[in-house]
This record gives sequence, structure tokens and C-alpha cells, in this order.
Amino acid sequence: MKPKVYITRRIPEQALEVIGGRCEYRMWDKEDEAVPRDVLESEVQDVDGIFSLLTERIDERLLDLAPKLKVVANMAVGYDNIDVAACARRGIVVTNTPGVLTETTADLAFALMMAAARRVTESERFLREGKWRTWSPMLLTGVDVYGATLGIIGLGRIGQAVARRARGFSMRVLYTSGSPHPELEAELGVERRSLEGLLRESDFVSIHVPLTEKTRGMIGRRELALMKPTAVLVNTSRGAVLSEQDLIEALREKRIFAAGLDVFETEPLPQDSPLLELGNVVLLPHIGSASIGTRTKMAVMAADNLVRVLSGKEPLNPVTL
Ligand code: DGY
Repeated sequence: MKPKVYITRRIPEQALEVIGGRCEYRMWDKEDEAVPRDVLESEVQDVDGIFSLLTERIDERLLDLAPKLKVVANMAVGYDNIDVAACARRGIVVTNTPGVLTETTADLAFALMMAAARRVTESERFLREGKWRTWSPMLLTGVDVYGATLGIIGLGRIGQAVARRARGFSMRVLYTSGSPHPELEAELGVERRSLEGLLRESDFVSIHVPLTEKTRGMIGRRELALMKPTAVLVNTSRGAVLSEQDLIEALREKRIFAAGLDVFETEPLPQDSPLLELGNVVLLPHIGSASIGTRTKMAVMAADNLVRVLSGKEPLNPVTL
């Protein structure tokens, strides 16, 4: 008998073929709507595997409802939506999709940096709204990316990829990390700082840490106050790493120049969020890894991990505690 799998969203055909070759599957066959919690709870009851997205909370309650579950394959590098410790206690393997999305996400972090610094989306709105009367010396002027100092919080795969891009812009690159990385310092020309030091010295700050109990809320009022009034803050990791309320106040009072956000404390961003009223922030709907090629690779990678575990093999990308 083939193992049973629940897939929590419509996924690319290539990934479905991988799963369909070895498993019997049911799928929440919608693209733009997350599976409702009650549907998820009833669907997982007889399954051996779950193919999940970051929109599903895989918590103790869900695991209690899925006594046969052996693997949760998350189609994301982040796995803060999964109670990994609870899975481990039950012998359930958790997998993620590291590596394949690194460059795509770094591209977007850079795009946000440039868009926020040079007021790209604000300028486009200005033009579309028919406000462009004439070229004028200080119209929609921003801050320079080229030659500026970039502070990277978290020098993992994506942080390193951002640092590599920064070299092309002649930027000085600082980083924070739990431990020094002398080999990366030599390779990428980056310098380690304390978080405080990095915030004080940087013209751009880009966040690349996973969301954990340690990083939750790590950038708040105190940290924002250390940044230069001309600085730009970019977040492509997880919304909860940053206190949104504190950032809103800093942007409103122009205590920093601008921000670029791809992730939020609550996703989708509530339509009454004060962020939507601010001109000095670029807002994107969590599209860091959203290139056709990368999203397809992520789906196939998650499918491969799922099928490997259900075939008695080691997964290629296990999440360990
Ligand atoms: C991830 O993979 O964790 C991103 O947030 C989505 O690509």
C-alpha cells in the first residue's frame, strides 16, 4: 500500500509527479487561499506525510490528530511554523529547502534596499497619480547605495549572498553573528561588529536571521534609535524579528530614512496596518524567493525529502534541533 500524503496547497506539476510516483495524495487544490485549519485538521488524520507551506501551523494539536505521521516537508527554508521539538518527541522528521532560494532572496533584499533608498515605488506612484509637473533639482531625492556601509544581521547563506552583491556596489560590509567567521571575512571582505556597533555605523541594515525565541523582537525601539536618521532598514527574513509598532513610529517620526519589508508580523498584512499610510516604506507580499525557477526547485526539493522519508531513506534536508 502506498503511503498517504496531504499537500496543503496546489504545487508545481514537477513536484506532484515526484510525490504521485510513490504516494497516494490529497491536496488543497487552491493557489491563492491557505487551507482552513478545520480542513487541515481533518485531512491529516490518516496521513504518513504532510507537504506544508509556511502558512500552516504544524503544532502539538495537529500532531495529536495525525498518529501515523512520519514526515513534515516544509516548502521553505524557514520552519518557525513548525513545532520541531514536538515533532522530534514523536519521531517525526521535519525537512526544509535550504540553498535553492539563497540567490533569489538576496536579489530581492537588494531590490528592496535600492527601492527604499531611491524611492522607486513612491516615485512610480507619484508619476501614475499625475503629479509629475517638471524635472526639479530635489524632487524625490533619496540616498546613495553605491559606496555606502551595509550592515548584515546574520551571515548565513542569504546574508553572504547579499554581501557578495554589495561588493559590486563598492559597499563596506559589516556583519553580526554569534561567532566570528574569519574565512568569510577574508573571502567577502566583511567586518564583524556587535549589533549595537553595526546599527550605529551602517547606512543600510539588512536582516537575515531565522525567527527563533532568541531573535523574536530583536530589532525594537532601542535598536532603531541607534540607527542613523539617513539609514534604510530591510527585512526579508521573518516579520516578528522586528517590532512593527516600533518601526512604524521610527518611520513616522523620520528617525530613519526608509524601510523595505517583504515580511510582516501578521501575513497577509492587515489592510488597516499603519504601514500602508507611510510613504517611506516599500512593502512586498513575502516574495523573497518568488522566481518561477526557485519556487519550482523548492517544491521539488520538499517533494524529494517527503518521498525519501516515506521510502525509508534519509532526507536530504533534515531540520535538527
Ligand atoms: C522561506 O523559505 O523561509 C521564505 O520565507 C519563503 O521562501
